[in-house]
Amino acid sequence: MKKQLSFEPKGGAQLLRIFQWAVLFVLVIGLFVAVKGIEAKARAVDWSEMQPSVADAEYVGVVEKCSECHEDYIKAFKKTVHGKVFLKNPQNNLQEQYCEACHGPLGKHVERPRKEEFRISLKKNGPLSQQQKNSVCLQCHEKGMQMHWRGSPHEMSDVACSDCHYLSERKSKKALLIHEDPKMACTQCHKQERAKLMRSNHMPLREGKIDCTTCHNAHGGPGPALLQTASINETCYTCHAEKRGPMLWEHPPARENCANCHDPHGTNFPKLLKAKPPHLCQSCHSAIFHVGGQYSGNDLPGGNASKRLLGKGCINCHSQVHGSNHPSGARFQR
Ligand code: HEC
Ligand code: HEC
Ligand code: HEC
Ligand code: HEC
Ligand code: HEC
Ligand code: HEC
Ligand code: HEC
Ligand code: HEC
Ligand code: HEC
Ligand code: HEC
Repeated sequence: MKKQLSFEPKGGAQLLRIFQWAVLFVLVIGLFVAVKGIEAKARAVDWSEMQPSVADAEYVGVVEKCSECHEDYIKAFKKTVHGKVFLKNPQNNLQEQYCEACHGPLGKHVERPRKEEFRISLKKNGPLSQQQKNSVCLQCHEKGMQMHWRGSPHEMSDVACSDCHYLSERKSKKALLIHEDPKMACTQCHKQERAKLMRSNHMPLREGKIDCTTCHNAHGGPGPALLQTASINETCYTCHAEKRGPMLWEHPPARENCANCHDPHGTNFPKLLKAKPPHLCQSCHSAIFHVGGQYSGNDLPGGNASKRLLGKGCINCHSQVHGSNHPSGARFQR
């Protein structure tokens, strides 16, 4: 009994200490959030550079004012992520500006709505450059998937966020894309890849099981060809893990780059091969490599056709072209 009593105050002190730490923790988080708020504001764009006549315009700040003339737009916009988050649950002062977070200060526009120089249009063929329009979005989207946007092939080629995204209403299930089928955002420009999808052999893109963005990050990435991963092979291994190895006998072109032999977008040969096996293999291996007598096919009708050029060609015998783990698989026959 005595023992128990002597323990009680100690337990109380511990509780107090936990409480003190909890308070400190909340304060630190609070500070962090506040700093993030300021940071967001600091990245805001210079609207007067885009449109000098709005330099001295005030922010209107109330959506109801815009509703007087843009009722239909606002109805649709409220169903988008931006409409929901900015209006109901703004996370910083920029988001609180609602429409004006993207369209700049519109005090003069509400007075003189017909005057073009008092509004900032982000429309596709509007007066602003692609870079200027993108800077509006980059106020808030410079992290996460968009981290590598600056300097990416798309940015360098003057592609705009709004070439793939449509913000005014919800056209796609996810990510506010211009079309409900995410492929369409890409194939509008990449006609060659679109054509390849139509070839007889393809991964299940046409069937909608995977998308361009399963392998690519349209906003840029650390690796080649806007891939999600750091290398081509890493991309393939995410689903075809058995090809990763390590193998006892490596076939160097497979270790180096799966795209040496396959085109992931589609081909007219079996197994997404870039060419028929004999020709594919002979693009690196000498055609006169095998000793004439043994493999020449002289015994076939007509006499001259090499049997290596028939059917699956080389892989009739060299079936383990990705490498082999068999002790005597040095020639990839087993
Ligand atoms: C008194 C009516 C009126 C009010 C109030 C008004 N607008 Fe407008 N707005 C217009 C008219 C008219 C146009 C020109 C439409 C056109 O050219 O098709 C326009 C055009 C715009 C455009 C440019 C569209 C483009 O891409 O060319 C934006 C953006 C815009 N308004 C946003 C707003 C916002 C945000 C508010 C509230 C802060 C607002 N407007 C308040 C009437 C109004
Ligand atoms: C997150 C950025 C963003 C916000 C917030 C935003 N807009 Fe827009 N708005 C755009 C973009 C981008 C376009 C160009 C077309 C497109 O991609 O939707 C546009 C286009 C417009 C147009 C022209 C539509 C047309 O096609 O004729 C009007 C009008 C407009 N916005 C008004 C508003 C109003 C009113 C609000 C507030 C309710 C608002 N915008 C909020 C980004 C935004
Ligand atoms: C004021 C900050 C701000 C600006 C400016 C802004 N966004 Fe956003 N955006 C957000 C927030 C907040 C979300 C909600 C998701 C999140 O928390 O990341 C979002 C979500 C998105 C999404 C994902 C939608 C979904 O369904 O998952 C896309 C796409 C997007 N924004 C594109 C754009 C584009 C394009 C522009 C420029 C025209 C733009 N945004 C401008 C803050 C902003
Ligand atoms: C070439 C087409 C393309 C361009 C250009 C593009 N996006 Fe995207 N974006 C996409 C696709 C496709 C997705 C869906 C990605 C997915 O599902 O994996 C997406 C997703 C997003 C998302 C939601 C996913 C996330 O990050 O949380 C945001 C936000 C976004 N984009 C913002 C932007 C901004 C900002 C720009 C311009 C700086 C931009 N995008 C330019 C195609 C594009
Ligand atoms: C507005 C046109 C446009 C759209 C839409 C577009 N692209 Fe591109 N894309 C380009 C241009 C321009 C280039 C750079 C020139 C080139 O290599 O063809 C490029 C380059 C690429 C590259 C090669 C990058 C490199 O390193 O060489 C890939 C991969 C790519 N885009 C994928 C996509 C994907 C995935 C989408 C859809 C989410 C998409 N693109 C949508 C225009 C577009
Ligand atoms: C299974 C993964 C995968 C899918 C799905 C995929 N790609 Fe690719 N893509 C790649 C790889 C890997 C490369 C690099 C190929 C190379 O360098 O030979 C590439 C390269 C590209 C290039 C650059 C081509 C060049 O000649 O430089 C473009 C453009 C492209 N892809 C667009 C697309 C489009 C559009 C889609 C959707 C229709 C798509 N990709 C779907 C994996 C994929
Ligand atoms: C997101 C998962 C995914 C990624 C990433 C992926 N694949 Fe595939 N791949 C598949 C699926 C699913 C199939 C279809 C399997 C089937 O139909 O049995 C397939 C089939 C194939 C086939 C056989 C086609 C046929 O006719 O049977 C080859 C070859 C192939 N992939 C090569 C690649 C290469 C090379 C890469 C990297 C550039 C890659 N894959 C990346 C999912 C993926
Ligand atoms: C030297 C050329 C070559 C290289 C490089 C290559 N492959 Fe293949 N791949 C083939 C051939 C040939 C076939 C057809 C085999 C058959 O029909 O028996 C094939 C078939 C496939 C298949 C479908 C059949 C199976 O074995 O599952 C997949 C998936 C595949 N390859 C993925 C890959 C991946 C992933 C890489 C990169 C690590 C890669 N390939 C590199 C030549 C190659
Ligand atoms: C991109 C070039 C390339 C392609 C395409 C290619 N190979 Fe190879 N292959 C090599 C290289 C490099 C080696 C290693 C040669 C060495 O180690 O001396 C090799 C080794 C081999 C070996 C073992 C020979 C040895 O000396 O160790 C065989 C068997 C082989 N390849 C068969 C094939 C077959 C079958 C195909 C077609 C499906 C093919 N290769 C396609 C580049 C290629
Ligand atoms: C009828 C079966 C058969 C066919 C078809 C065949 N090979 Fe071979 N290949 C062999 C055998 C068996 C060996 C092993 C010879 C040895 O170990 O000395 C070999 C060895 C090789 C080697 C390694 C030579 C070395 O230095 O040891 C290469 C490279 C090769 N084949 C490439 C090919 C290519 C490319 C094709 C298609 C044009 C092909 N083979 C078709 C059976 C075949």
